[in-house]
Amino acid sequence: MATFQTLPGFREFYPEDLARRNHIFRRWRQAAGTYGFAEYDAPVLEPLELYKTKSGDEIEGQLFNFTDKGGREVALRPEMTPTVCRLVGAKANALKRPIKWFSIAEFYRYERAQKGRLRAFFQFNADIFGEPGPEAEIELIALLIQCLAGFGLTKDDFCVRLSDRDLWFFYLEALGFNDTQARELLGAIDKVEKLGDAAFEAFAEKHGPLAPEKMAAILGFMKIRSLEALAAEIGRIGQDKLEARLGDWRRVIAGLTAMSLGEFIQVDLSVVRGLAYYTGFVFEAFDRKGDLRALAGGGRYNDLVKKLGLPDLPAVGFAIGDVTTGLLLEQRGLMPTFVQAPDVYCVIGGEKERAAAFGDIQALRAAGYRVDYPLKEVGFGKQFKAAAESGAKVALIYGGDEIAKGVVKLRDLTERSERDVPRADLLVTVRDFLAGA
Ligand code: HAM
Repeated sequence: MATFQTLPGFREFYPEDLARRNHIFRRWRQAAGTYGFAEYDAPVLEPLELYKTKSGDEIEGQLFNFTDKGGREVALRPEMTPTVCRLVGAKANALKRPIKWFSIAEFYRYERAQKGRLRAFFQFNADIFGEPGPEAEIELIALLIQCLAGFGLTKDDFCVRLSDRDLWFFYLEALGFNDTQARELLGAIDKVEKLGDAAFEAFAEKHGPLAPEKMAAILGFMKIRSLEALAAEIGRIGQDKLEARLGDWRRVIAGLTAMSLGEFIQVDLSVVRGLAYYTGFVFEAFDRKGDLRALAGGGRYNDLVKKLGLPDLPAVGFAIGDVTTGLLLEQRGLMPTFVQAPDVYCVIGGEKERAAAFGDIQALRAAGYRVDYPLKEVGFGKQFKAAAESGAKVALIYGGDEIAKGVVKLRDLTERSERDVPRADLLVTVRDFLAGA
């Protein structure tokens, strides 16, 4: 007989897995709420065109796409950014600015299977539209930090690597490269970690080999790891655009430092981001040990809304994934175990007693208590075992004698003590008992 397995890179969530996922989502939602972001959602299937050229070659090659029965070219969403641009762009004039939005949703990319990378995964996306200044970056980077710190992770567990595509463009311009060349070079720089010097081969084939001093300058700029080193290199070059941009850097770092988040930030000019639409600051979160893939990534993308044929709207945002976040929490022992225990377990004598028990069960549930009972008639022994194993703190025992007397037996499952409780007082008694009175 054929066995049907999940597709590679897709997950099934058994209740304990879903409890862990929900825990992650809960903390992210909490963080977004405290930062004043409003939640939205959008379709999982989109026109293929939305991702063509906008997201970049890498994502385009990973699309789950097909032709639907109406002949439309469609794709499962690989990311939220083009979609949220459409949502915001369509109502740009009606929305109060700055527009601070977030979502939690599933995404699909046909990736090569590896630790921390699947073909279906969840992201928390947070974006700010309508704010051109670096204040938006401060707010988003602070939120990203909270999305990890909210689980108890500290500056010793993760950092946010901060870089800047504007700075790179100005720097490459100062080195004598034109815009197209600069774009291609950034594509190569994105791949240096993976490919080493070979990352520049495609560029060399097209434009001739890089002069050794230019190659050295690029590799040197990539190695910059502090604001001081950055300021020194910019000072050496003496270009106005670079000097002005350094001012934005100082504002971002000063803002985050004032929020006591400075120690989470690592200046790292080797981050340039693979996605095609980023225009300014870019950042990625990594675990400090460095054995996981990126936890989160984002940056400024001032041209994307306009490229979709909508109003010109500056934007910056990031996405954090559930897979690497979950792995990091497990590694650090910060993933709680979740027991879905009822508050009350009802032990029911027989069919006759069931009717009385059902009335009380409904009343307790209506009052918000989690109540469980055996669906079928089974012996007392088995029911007591089930009550103990359920994790409930209290059992209510519905025997024929008790019901005749208008009472129910309340058993403390921790202390193993018992007492009779008038059924008329049941709600109050259970409430006081669970409150520890
Ligand atoms: P991204 O860097 O492609 O950015 O993805 C962000 C995060 O999503 C990654 O750091 C990772 O945690 C998670 N992720 C991505 N691909 C996978 C995968 N195959 N399996 C598991 N997790 C994955 C974006 O998606 C941008 N749209 C983020 C953004 C929002 N930029 C501006 N606003």
